[in-house]
Formats: sequence, structure tokens, C-alpha cells
Amino acid sequence: MPITRDAVLEWLREYAGVIAKNSQYLTQLDAAIGDADHGANMNRGFQAVLTKLPGLSDKDIATVLKTVGMTLISTVGGAGGPLYGTFFIQAGSAVAGKPELSLEDWSAALDSAVQGIKARGKAEPGDKTMVDALVPAAEAVRAAVAENAPIGEALKKSAQAAEDGMKATIPLVARRGRASYLGERSAGHQDPGATSSFLMLDAAARVWSNA
Ligand SMILES: Nc1ncnc2c1ncn2[C@@H]1O[C@H](COP(=O)(O)OP(=O)(O)O)[C@@H](O)[C@H]1O
Ligand SMILES: [Mg+2]
Repeated sequence: MPITRDAVLEWLREYAGVIAKNSQYLTQLDAAIGDADHGANMNRGFQAVLTKLPGLSDKDIATVLKTVGMTLISTVGGAGGPLYGTFFIQAGSAVAGKPELSLEDWSAALDSAVQGIKARGKAEPGDKTMVDALVPAAEAVRAAVAENAPIGEALKKSAQAAEDGMKATIPLVARRGRASYLGERSAGHQDPGATSSFLMLDAAARVWSNA
């Protein structure tokens, strides 16, 4: 079954709730290797997104995603906000004009979003950033499309790949972002942005599997 505009809105509401619930956890992760604001940043951004959603109930999916991206960029400072903003703007551009999304459309959106983040932040897998969760997740969806897998199964695999990528950041030494200032001392801690990215794809898998 395709992903409808209402399902996209439901995902965003769900993720805003997940971020609110995990705000302290994300901030704790950022306290270890950054400046202890990732949870607060994401929560500020997604609370602002929540206020925009009622006005988006009759807009197309691309407009919804782009509005989320612009809202994040205008309300969240630091690195994380603009990077997530880029994610949503690029995802929106990739699905312009689509009334609903097939798994292949979602794969294209995710690929374009991840490319946008990599271009903006200059991070590659292994640099201990959100890219470590997002790249494997996008690859998992692409593989599922190639296998003609059902959408629910594809989304679960992508969330699992994001979770594995998130956990794999623990031993890494950060090469991008604030955590890179710590050098070797960044090893042994899970990356906050990879964690919020896993939570985002996990919310998509939960909400859209019942679509
Ligand atoms: N250049 C980058 N490319 C990709 N992701 C990055 C980059 N710099 C930082 N990040 C991600 O952003 C997260 C930190 O976000 P946040 O705390 O909100 O911003 P800031 O680092 O400005 O305080 C990191 O955990 C990492 O995943
Ligand atoms: Mg921070």
C-alpha cells in the first residue's frame, strides 16, 4: 500500500512525540561528546513543526516535507537543525507532484535526503554522525525495492539498518561536527544525531507498516 499524505503527517506527529519523550536522552548523549543541546534542539524544531501541521492537511507531500525542512532550519541552531532541514527539503524535492508514495518513491526521497546531508555536512559513513544511521537505512530500502519486498518489511529493515548503524557509531572516533574536537576521546559514546535519525526511521516503520 502506498504512503499517503495523511500517513506522512502522522509520521511527523509521531516523531515529534518521540523526540519530546527522548529529548533528555538525546541531550545526555550530546553532553558526552558535544554541547548537550541535541535533544533540546530537535524538540524545539519539532514542536514548531507540530504547530505547522494543521495548515498542511490539504497540501501535497512535497510541500509538507519542504515546509518541515524550512521550519527546522529557521527554528533550530547548530549543525543538527540545518542538516535535518536539508534532509526534509531534499526528500520533498525528490517526490514533487506525487499524490502518494510507493516504496520506490520513498527510496528516492531517502536517497536524495541522505545525499543532501552528505553534501552539506561533508560527512561520510564512519565519521560518527547521523550519516552512519541514514546511509545503511537508505541502502536497505533500495535493496528492498530491488527485491520487490512488501513496504512494511522494507521499512522494518531500514529501521533495523539505522539502529545497527547507530550502535556502530559507539567505538568510532568522530571526524565531523563538534564531537571531532574531542579526537580519540569521542570513542566509546553513541552519536546523538545517529540516534535521532534511527528514531525517525523507526517511527516511519511503525506508523507506515499499518498504513
Ligand atoms: N558535518 C556533519 N555532517 C553530518 N552530521 C553532522 C555533522 N556535524 C554534526 N552532525 C550531527 O549533528 C549532531 C549534533 O547535533 P546538534 O547537537 O543538534 O548540533 P551542534 O553539534 O551544533 O550542537 C551530531 O551528533 C551528528 O550526528
Ligand atoms: Mg549539540
